[in-house]
Amino acid sequence: MRTAGAEQWVPHDGGMRRVRAALPDCRGCDLWKDATQVVGGEGPVRSRMMLVGETPGDHEDKEGHVFVGPAGRLLDKALDEAGIDRTDVYLTNAVKHFRFEREGKRRIHKTPAASQITACHPWLTRELEIVKPSLVVVMGSVAAKALLGSSFRVTQERGKRVELADGRPAVATVHPSAVVRSDQFRRDFDQFVDDLRTAVALLG
Ligand code: URA
Ligand code: SF4
Repeated sequence: MRTAGAEQWVPHDGGMRRVRAALPDCRGCDLWKDATQVVGGEGPVRSRMMLVGETPGDHEDKEGHVFVGPAGRLLDKALDEAGIDRTDVYLTNAVKHFRFEREGKRRIHKTPAASQITACHPWLTRELEIVKPSLVVVMGSVAAKALLGSSFRVTQERGKRVELADGRPAVATVHPSAVVRSDQFRRDFDQFVDDLRTAVALLG
């Protein structure tokens, strides 16, 4: 089924409270159908830094909060090492509903399709309008697709200052899930922390 995307569900007046209230009604793509619940962004509305991940995972889908599973624990550790307080940043995802495939009783995460990333984009745009972060940390290729375009390559351009289409400063890095799964964990964790430190330095 083709849908027009989230635009018609996104409130353009009011603040984050209106956004959070409207989010559960979104039918901008098909992902709401099988998910337990929508998972909206979290953190102070006046954060100077916004971090954007991919999509809620199994834990986030069940608990209704961003980055509460294994990727979230790793992110917490990395933020801590980079001197960032998680409660000071706004954390969200490029796609707000969990995408998965069933394998027996397990639900296996599936990368959102380009059409779903596009469909969900109006929510991210509205979050950027409201929070107005001075810097955006783009974590992984799905967030990069959403915010930096389809030709952006995280592996080549990670850890340096880039710009979103609106000129807002950003730093791209890997997704914390990729670090969790890495067979070169120490190296990849340290590089992830380095990218976060670069983001802190750019904030000034
Ligand atoms: N991965 C994400 O991208 N976001 C979450 O909230 C959890 C895991
Ligand atoms: Fe709406 Fe995004 Fe959920 Fe799709 S994934 S239904 S666009 S909130």
